[in-house]
Amino acid sequence: MARSIADQSVTELGGRVSVLTRQKKDHVTLDRLLHELGRTHGHEQDAVLQRLYRLVFPHAFAEEAVLWPTLRRVLPDGHELSLEVEQEHQEVNELVTRLEGMGHHHPERGAVLDRLTEVLREDVRDEEDVLLPRLQQAVSTRDVRRLGVLWEVVRRVAPTRAHPVVARRPPGNVLSAVPLSVLDRLRDLLDAGARRGPERVVPALRTASRTLTWAAHRVEHLPLLRIGEDPSTRSGGPGGA
Ligand SMILES: [Fe+2]
Ligand SMILES: [Fe+2]
Repeated sequence: MARSIADQSVTELGGRVSVLTRQKKDHVTLDRLLHELGRTHGHEQDAVLQRLYRLVFPHAFAEEAVLWPTLRRVLPDGHELSLEVEQEHQEVNELVTRLEGMGHHHPERGAVLDRLTEVLREDVRDEEDVLLPRLQQAVSTRDVRRLGVLWEVVRRVAPTRAHPVVARRPPGNVLSAVPLSVLDRLRDLLDAGARRGPERVVPALRTASRTLTWAAHRVEHLPLLRIGEDPSTRSGGPGGA
């Protein structure tokens, strides 16, 4: 039985560059943000959510583009293992999309936030206790370091928002990276400006952000970006929320 990466030291995980160490570090930050989410409300909670999205979506995108294809190559049951976490990622994308359409006093907001927290915690447990230890057993220390560098590069340029419609697998998700990342990161800047900027520019920034959201949804629906999708992670499909 493979040992959870939660119980291993940095040296055992392959050093600081290793993808296993980087994953564990992000998961610790996620845990802290989930605790903050439960303690906050209204606009303060929105700011926590923005930080959570900026952590979770590039992190998961880089898993889907770099790590899970490797897992499928090196493990005979890699397809089943990776599909389970891709379904969790899909549910996260769908829950966040629902949340973005809800006001602070929407009657379902609390239930959606609770489910989001639950799925994110399940995703971390599946990865730390099963997928990543299995990957660790199947590849060399040199490989986990090489994957660490690659995963980090992809994470830094990946989309930062929920995109439930694009494929959770290459090549669709990889093709979506450039246009969606540009649109998402511009939205992040506009939304940050709307939160902190002078009152008179807030309506214009919010309008510009909504226009980019509309543009991102148009891009998401390009058929090319759905290639590689497993039917169970299709938006609104059996694996969806
Ligand atoms: Fe992860
Ligand atoms: Fe994940």
